[in-house]
Amino acid sequence: MTNDKDQPRAAAPRGWREATQAALYGPHGFYRRPEGPAAHFRTSVHASPLYAAAVARLLSRLDAELGHPDEVAFVDMGAGRGELTTAVLAALPADVAPRVRAYAVELAERPDGLDPRIEWCAAPPTGVTGLLFANEWLDNVPLDVAEVAADGAPHRMLVRDDGTESPGGPVEGPDADWLARWWPLDPEPGLRAEIGRPRDEAWAAAVATLTRGLAVAVDYAHTRDARPPFGTLTGFREGRETAPVPDGSCDITAHVALDACARDGAALLTQRAALGALGVSGGRPPLALASSDPTAYVRALTRAGEAAELTAPGGLGDFGWLLQPVGVALDALLAD
Ligand SMILES: C[S@@+](CC[C@H](N)C(=O)[O-])C[C@H]1O[C@@H](n2cnc3c(N)ncnc32)[C@H](O)[C@@H]1O
Repeated sequence: MTNDKDQPRAAAPRGWREATQAALYGPHGFYRRPEGPAAHFRTSVHASPLYAAAVARLLSRLDAELGHPDEVAFVDMGAGRGELTTAVLAALPADVAPRVRAYAVELAERPDGLDPRIEWCAAPPTGVTGLLFANEWLDNVPLDVAEVAADGAPHRMLVRDDGTESPGGPVEGPDADWLARWWPLDPEPGLRAEIGRPRDEAWAAAVATLTRGLAVAVDYAHTRDARPPFGTLTGFREGRETAPVPDGSCDITAHVALDACARDGAALLTQRAALGALGVSGGRPPLALASSDPTAYVRALTRAGEAAELTAPGGLGDFGWLLQPVGVALDALLAD
């Protein structure tokens, strides 16, 4: 028998940023669970080994651009269970692999059996030279949600642990400045925006850990000319989209204003364009191969199907790639 004292107290309504932080990364948070993100949704990393091969190609090109240093870092930011790092190490050419120092940056525990070459850390290493790669990290950086109220002004939405919302006070200060610059809302009640300032700051801090190299953020994204009028905050659980309920039972995510994260010298591409520049395309193998080498044909056909998924319009191909160079030129890295 329990009495009321033993029951966890429901949190008072609070902003989405605070509620999401607790729901995803608190002691019983969604991302602390042992099963890992891949049990709930599929990212490009899980879709095909072609993805890691393309990242390995980018790292090799960067290594050449950096003049083949004695040590080149690969930093997998928001590494899940280290799937991308593991696959990138496997895909690197023999002249690069021994010089790569691999870091998986993750708040969850190190998985059992992970390649011992991979350093598991809760924050990115500082002062390194190399590639920092963040696949679907920024969409999980918690943020607040604004909704235009009856007074025509954006108000910060408050949320209970069961997902019910109520309007809080008007958005003010740096968040109001961010909205005005990056996601201006007409005074029409019900319009919504996610206030991306914490993501801009998280990304700037990650980029600042590089002494020289390239930082890449890949995510479902939107730009100022086409923000969704009611925002994109949503939940995922066991492969299905669900209501975003900040109780630790589901992922809570929102598309990323990648243009707001970009700093001087950055490039913003679609995944289709970025992977094209890294040699991934969905072209079918020549039919003649089917009779000359049927096994190779089937393998090539499988790869073509995977490449098509990674570059699909309306799907992963529309993801944004934000490339932020630090002391290197981008042109050579993206030459097809
Ligand atoms: C959507 S999952 C993506 C996993 C993997 N990158 C992939 O593409 O399959 C986001 C991951 O970022 C991690 N994460 C979020 N914020 C983090 C932070 N500040 N430091 C390290 N990891 C973080 C979460 O724990 C989660 O595993």
